[in-house]
Amino acid sequence: MKSLMMQGTRILSTGSAVPNSSLNNSQISEIVETSDEWIVTRTGIEERRLLTGMNKSVVDLAVLAALKALDKISMSPSEIDLIILATSSPNDLFGSASQIQSKIKALNAVAFDLTAACSGFVLSMVTASQFLKSGTYRTILVIGADVLSKWIDWSDRSTCILFGDGAGAMILQSCPQKDNQILGFQLNTDGSYSNHLSLLYKEQVYPHPVLNLYQGSFKYISMNGKEVYKFAVSQVPISILKCLNSLNISTHDVNWLLLHQANERILKAIADKLCISNNKIIVNLNKYGNTSAASIPIAFDEALTENKISNNDIIVISGFGAGLTWGTIIIKWKS
Ligand code: COA
Repeated sequence: MKSLMMQGTRILSTGSAVPNSSLNNSQISEIVETSDEWIVTRTGIEERRLLTGMNKSVVDLAVLAALKALDKISMSPSEIDLIILATSSPNDLFGSASQIQSKIKALNAVAFDLTAACSGFVLSMVTASQFLKSGTYRTILVIGADVLSKWIDWSDRSTCILFGDGAGAMILQSCPQKDNQILGFQLNTDGSYSNHLSLLYKEQVYPHPVLNLYQGSFKYISMNGKEVYKFAVSQVPISILKCLNSLNISTHDVNWLLLHQANERILKAIADKLCISNNKIIVNLNKYGNTSAASIPIAFDEALTENKISNNDIIVISGFGAGLTWGTIIIKWKS
């Protein structure tokens, strides 16, 4: 652990992984009463990927995404000091990040999970940047990965059409301030609306004459779609504006809006409120649906692969979702 004061943060590499198995809207209409037309019109989603098969978990996708990010820059996993896994669907409630550490052989890395639903990647990136800024760690692997297909009630048409599985990884490294890419961030939580989107614990009395205990398991995802929609469209533009204003950056200077891939209508409404052209929105939710903590890093990785992002581009990243938690990071890309 080195102490380097007030370092900048540089994005060294990205990687992503989605399951091979896909489920399109016509196939979903064989499971619940819905239609391709209804889903596309209300959400923009055409298909999603699902992790199928026994004993497959979020760890499998996260490992694949991490290895791709490492491979792109030929980095040895032993260089990683910290792994943060943003997930709300771990395969072990004690944490899944340590399994990733072992599987990718990042033997020098500390590893922990961070749970903040669809805002998990934004919160993890900010957390990582604080460790880098303080000089505590030099190289951090941040992964956003979720397999919400395991927590969906597949008879509930209002939620099962929305979500898909996936993982995205990003390798961040400390750098001199002049090369810093994370210009600023703005984070928020309002727990009084947590009931609008939740995956709650369900208690049952533990049948023992002496122990007065309640034990249980988790229910399915439950959502008030209209309220979540209103929350995202009203609060996310405020967060973005606060963050841009604090950096003296105008909305006209924004090159890309990289928002959590929840619903195309939400993305467009946020862009419209900010008077940012729709062709600056990065969208891939038509292929994957809402992959929760994975959506931003997957979209980022694809945008880089497609050479969309140029040197000095200003990228606004915003996550929003259960908690309710939402937040923004402003990046200046340096290739
Ligand atoms: N197929 C067909 N009909 C459906 C349906 C489906 N998959 N899901 C709901 N409906 C029906 C409803 O039952 C309702 O019927 P009714 O008028 O007879 O009662 C009607 O469609 C309208 O439902 P409503 O919930 O008002 O639709 P909506 O316009 O709000 O769209 C969402 C629903 C879920 C697409 C929308 O609210 C949304 O995207 N919210 C944000 C969700 C989100 O992004 N969550 C994750 C954030 S991280």
